Amino acid sequence: MSVYQATASAPVNIACIKYWGKRDTKLILPTNSSLSVTLHQDHLRSTTTSRADPSFESDRLWLNGKEEDIKAGGRMATCIAEMKRLRKEEVEDKQPNEPKLSSYHVHIASFNNFPTAAGLASSASGFAALVSSLAQLYKLPVSPSTLSLIARQGSGSACRSLYGGFVAWEQGTRADGLDSLAVEVAPQSHWPEMHALICVVSDDKKGTSSTSGMQRTVETSTLLQHRIAHVVPKRMAAISAAIKARDFDAFAQITMADSNQFHAVALDTEPPIFYMNDVSRAIIALIVEYNRVSVEKGHGRKAAYTYDAGPNAVIYTLKENVKEIIELIVRYFPQAVGSFKDVFGLFGGVDVAQTGG
Ligand code: DP6
Repeated sequence: MSVYQATASAPVNIACIKYWGKRDTKLILPTNSSLSVTLHQDHLRSTTTSRADPSFESDRLWLNGKEEDIKAGGRMATCIAEMKRLRKEEVEDKQPNEPKLSSYHVHIASFNNFPTAAGLASSASGFAALVSSLAQLYKLPVSPSTLSLIARQGSGSACRSLYGGFVAWEQGTRADGLDSLAVEVAPQSHWPEMHALICVVSDDKKGTSSTSGMQRTVETSTLLQHRIAHVVPKRMAAISAAIKARDFDAFAQITMADSNQFHAVALDTEPPIFYMNDVSRAIIALIVEYNRVSVEKGHGRKAAYTYDAGPNAVIYTLKENVKEIIELIVRYFPQAVGSFKDVFGLFGGVDVAQTGG
């Protein structure tokens, strides 16, 4: 008897232009486009195995070895249903001899190679790996952009992990979301010197989840309306141009400005949301000073900080500066060395790379 099983991995991505706000919470359609860098497979990734079998009595899911409920109508159930629909439409309806895998239940096991509690975008890599493993199991002849439409319905930021390198999530305008998908801006090979340093400031579970926090922002922040209409469209164009030109100074300026504005709209929410702590702010001050000295010498900015919905810093820089920046941070935050080690070494010095997806 045949065994129908496939395994796929997907890495975490870290946004330079932040997604924060939904215009449709069920389909997960965003209020603005966003852009991210996909980190290297070897560092922070989810690996997911899916199996379809006629003897299975229900769809089941295990996360890091522990069985989780698949809530009817929830995000996980939606992704699985959408993948079965694609299998039927793209394979079984066209090739009647193919096994009817869309009618079998699936068992899915997923592992993260990093602590889920560290607040490091585990849902992004998780849903991207889920969709990739089912796509492989179902032998779907579709593009990563098509798969991104489904990963998006698991977690918005997950759609960007279907590509490696530099990736945009175009917000789209359609009510059915069919144009709200991930597109490649440039592959990793276009700018292989780009590095991301992850500074784990705290591995506590974050206070306000992205999902609930961003809806509160949509409902209460007037600054968000300004950001959506007047700021993000220009930044998307400018950062795409900076990436294409490999202009690090411009890339860094836009990335830091957008991180700052994301945290400003969080603060403009009622009640206000604070994701950064004193250590996060001290790291910002250090990078600002490091860049000031570099600009003064005529070299332009050499590092860009960015923060998601938590206090951990991600610092983008070019390879030639990685050692200097790590030394700088260790010098100013010696107390952090121990706690960083508990997570996954002092820093994850990660390259960006293509996904297996
Ligand atoms: C701050 O993708 O986790 O990381 O769509 O509700 O699952 P849901 O939200 P999620 O939000 C990510 C927010 C962010 C910015 C970003 O990654 O663009």
